[in-house]
Amino acid sequence: MEKSQFNTEELHPIETKILDAIDTFTEIPLTSLIEKTNLTIDQIRRGLQWLKFKNIIEYSKPSTLLTLDSSGKSSVEHGLPERRLVTAINEGNTTITKILENKRLMQSEINIAISKARSNKWIELTNTEKTGLTFKLTGKSKVESEEELLLKKIFLEKTVKEADLSNSELAILKVLLKRPKFITIKKDEENVSLTDLGKSIKDELLTKKETQNENLVTSLVSEHLVSGKWKNIKFRPIDLEAEVTMAAPGRTHPLTDLINEIREAFTSLGFVEIEGDYIQSAFWNFDALFTPQDHAAREMQDTFYLTDKIILKLANNKLVRNIANVHLEGWKYSWDIKKAKKLVLRTHTTPVTLKYLAETKPDEARIFTIGRVFRNEKVSYKHLVEFNQIEGIVTGKNITLRDLMGIQTEFYKKIGIKKIKFWPTYFPYTEPSLQSMIYNDDLKKWIELFGMGIFRPEVVEPLGIRNLVLAWGGGIERIAMLKYRLSDVRELYANKIGWLRSLSKCQ
Ligand code: PHE
Repeated sequence: MEKSQFNTEELHPIETKILDAIDTFTEIPLTSLIEKTNLTIDQIRRGLQWLKFKNIIEYSKPSTLLTLDSSGKSSVEHGLPERRLVTAINEGNTTITKILENKRLMQSEINIAISKARSNKWIELTNTEKTGLTFKLTGKSKVESEEELLLKKIFLEKTVKEADLSNSELAILKVLLKRPKFITIKKDEENVSLTDLGKSIKDELLTKKETQNENLVTSLVSEHLVSGKWKNIKFRPIDLEAEVTMAAPGRTHPLTDLINEIREAFTSLGFVEIEGDYIQSAFWNFDALFTPQDHAAREMQDTFYLTDKIILKLANNKLVRNIANVHLEGWKYSWDIKKAKKLVLRTHTTPVTLKYLAETKPDEARIFTIGRVFRNEKVSYKHLVEFNQIEGIVTGKNITLRDLMGIQTEFYKKIGIKKIKFWPTYFPYTEPSLQSMIYNDDLKKWIELFGMGIFRPEVVEPLGIRNLVLAWGGGIERIAMLKYRLSDVRELYANKIGWLRSLSKCQ
């Protein structure tokens, strides 16, 4: 046999055990493999999968097995009804009455016995007025019928493979299958045999007596190191290209993964995470952010208001008075505290960072928050009514707009976005205001990412903040769409199992 190019040392002990148990020239059913190898069914299945992948073994088609059922067996031992009819006639019983008295046939068997015996041409019938119906045997009645022969064959061999039957036997099988409880059909279990490569490897293993492969060490343990044994140990080589089965364990949602990645990125830049409530007063969501009370964003079509619910105390009186003043002076209208007391589902995370500033009045801070926001919008491929925002602020001495752009650039780099630029834009609460734009290679165009700017004096002064505050925020789903190359944001929430599984954990 030709020598294989195969390194038999690379075989896993399970594989060599299996190869040991398979005869070179005959196939072996799985159950016999388990018996011969003492391996578990799982080990066998895994080993066979590896061997199959390496083209060392192959599965042969399971065959259809025929055995005799109760009536089939008794027909071989006591004769088919038509045969017993012949015997009865032979014993001189030539009429139905006599045949029944003879007790070789039951009443229920008479019809089938006569019809079969006639089609075998074993008997002839005569009917005269004098004698009534009488039976006579022909010379052929001594010859065994094809049905009898096939039954006998199966009886003697106990099981017969359907594939081993001749065409005429297959035709007879069809006839026999019509007789109840004669023949049982069973599918054989899977069989395994060696391919040509497998045969040559087996040959090599035998001549090299290399089944000692089992003695190769599979893992290095501390005892090997401590004793110095590792120097002389022969390790089993590992096949790094071996195919493994695809595993689909439970995992976090890709959006959660991205949120964690973003959290990690800001934390590594020295930011501290804070949290806030989904329900906010319009005061913190809008008024404190110098958003006039007739601003379009405050309309019911854009914002979810809590019906008939108001907050009793907005903040300390001085702060509320300060806000009322900046609206009066800045926007020139009489500010209505009732509108500020309405409750909303936060439309952005900015009230969270703003409240933090009001409560702690820091001279220096690097803060971020991540969470759900709500907008009363029509759901579409690019809009959801609930989505997640990431928001951050930095305050300190001598900070500038350049720092804001620098932090953005650094953060985007950390989550894998390199091509960015900044664009001027407008927010009621920042001045100057910017928008970061990132380049999408798939769409070949620039896409808006975060809104940002320096909080206006009208925002920070009423809170008692002295230093400049850089602030930015934007949607996380939008980043997720870019990262996972989705053209419809709703796909993130459809939870299609195929899609979830298709994403690798590390991108
Ligand atoms: N709140 C803005 C939004 O929801 C983003 C933003 C945050 C803009 C902070 C400027 C400063 O889009």
